[in-house]
Amino acid sequence: MTDKSNKLWDGRFTEATDAFVESFTASIGFDHVLAAYDIQGSIAHATMLASVGILNDNERGAIVSGLEAIREDILKGNMTWSVALEDVHMNIESALTEQIGDVGKKLHTGRSRNDQVATDIRLYLRDAIDAICEKITLLQNGILELAEGETETIMPGLTHLQVAQPVSFAHHLMAWFEMIGRDKARMQDCRKRVNSLPLGAAALAGTTFPIDRNMTAELLGFETVAANSLDAVSDRDFAIEFCAAASLLMMHLSRWAEEMILWTSPQFDYIDLPDRFCTGSSIMPQKKNPDVPELVRGKTGRVFGSLNNLLTVMKGQPLAYNKDNQEDKEPLFDTVNTVMDCLTAFADMVPAMEPRRENMREATRKGFATATDLADYLVKKGLPFRDAHEVVGRLVGQAIGQGCDLSELPLDSLTSASELIEEDVYQVLTLEGSLAARNHPGGTAPEQVKAAIKAARDSLSG
Ligand code: ARG
Repeated sequence: MTDKSNKLWDGRFTEATDAFVESFTASIGFDHVLAAYDIQGSIAHATMLASVGILNDNERGAIVSGLEAIREDILKGNMTWSVALEDVHMNIESALTEQIGDVGKKLHTGRSRNDQVATDIRLYLRDAIDAICEKITLLQNGILELAEGETETIMPGLTHLQVAQPVSFAHHLMAWFEMIGRDKARMQDCRKRVNSLPLGAAALAGTTFPIDRNMTAELLGFETVAANSLDAVSDRDFAIEFCAAASLLMMHLSRWAEEMILWTSPQFDYIDLPDRFCTGSSIMPQKKNPDVPELVRGKTGRVFGSLNNLLTVMKGQPLAYNKDNQEDKEPLFDTVNTVMDCLTAFADMVPAMEPRRENMREATRKGFATATDLADYLVKKGLPFRDAHEVVGRLVGQAIGQGCDLSELPLDSLTSASELIEEDVYQVLTLEGSLAARNHPGGTAPEQVKAAIKAARDSLSG
């Protein structure tokens, strides 16, 4: 029989773990990311244990300073993680005992790795959500910075990727502001459910020690104490919810990236991205490729994948903790890192976008973007909308035939299509007139967009 190894749990075992099983079941390769949170949780746990008399003050002091020293070692890169010790929790506990002696073995009183790991992930995710929200705010400020100067910049608003009606570039940008604002609100809402303390649930049923969970919660800044021990150690719905919110955010960034890719193409040429966000081709000397938005669009796949991954990891698990849950970490960490990177790229890139205003204007002019304005003009003069639609449709046909814009058709062509048309029609056909006419909250009139930008600024500083 093989000799037993020195595991923290091998009292009942008679042979060593199979070498493959040891590496297959270990999570230290990825969960060392949680080290700082594991130490934070352990310090709070030890402090609570001392306050209820389970540890004496000397023991608490030794454990806390031991953990702080380990934290320093990790920061300095002096910690060697051991696969034989399986995960971050047992690596740190074993380093503690090595450092301070047998007192270290008392730290695990009244807890289990099951409530410990759930606590660590929640602490990690709470910080990650805060960092993500900060990045979203940075990006929102970048949008406002750019939008402020572009309320009179006219571009084609598209439906079906065809020119529809004129909008301002600022109005278009503010659509993105709204979308990522909702993404931030979803993150903040998710944070409330992340911010609940599992410690005290122990393995699954609670503990026989007279612990003070409210105190631990307060020390760790948790708003609530998880109300059911089985639920506290087993569910990962908070991580799934985060990945769902992250997926929506990435869906938005990916749509936006797609626009940037189109807009920088010579076919559109609406914006220029500074060279630092682009790369060249190794064969085609003329190329300037929008790699950063393309990668953001591509990375969306990993985040959607992680959401599916976590849903699937969870769906078949009976209560309470199962080893399956160890699989929650990599998709969660990858989602956090991907979202942070993509937001960093966008926060830098968006305010640096340079609009090519002439090209935007020319594209709007070419697309009969004021046709609806002409129909509305006829309706205001008494024609039913369907009939007005028909009249304008015929005029668009004429303009296409003559290779000109509606505003370039002579007055007699216009009046022969409908006697309701008069000289004043030309004001309606200008791009500026079209924009200014949509003057209600949510519309593209410069006055409204300026008000929207101001309200947005106030909401960010409020
Ligand atoms: N490494 C484990 C995880 O990530 C920690 C909890 C282990 N608990 C257990 N009963 N084996 O989930």
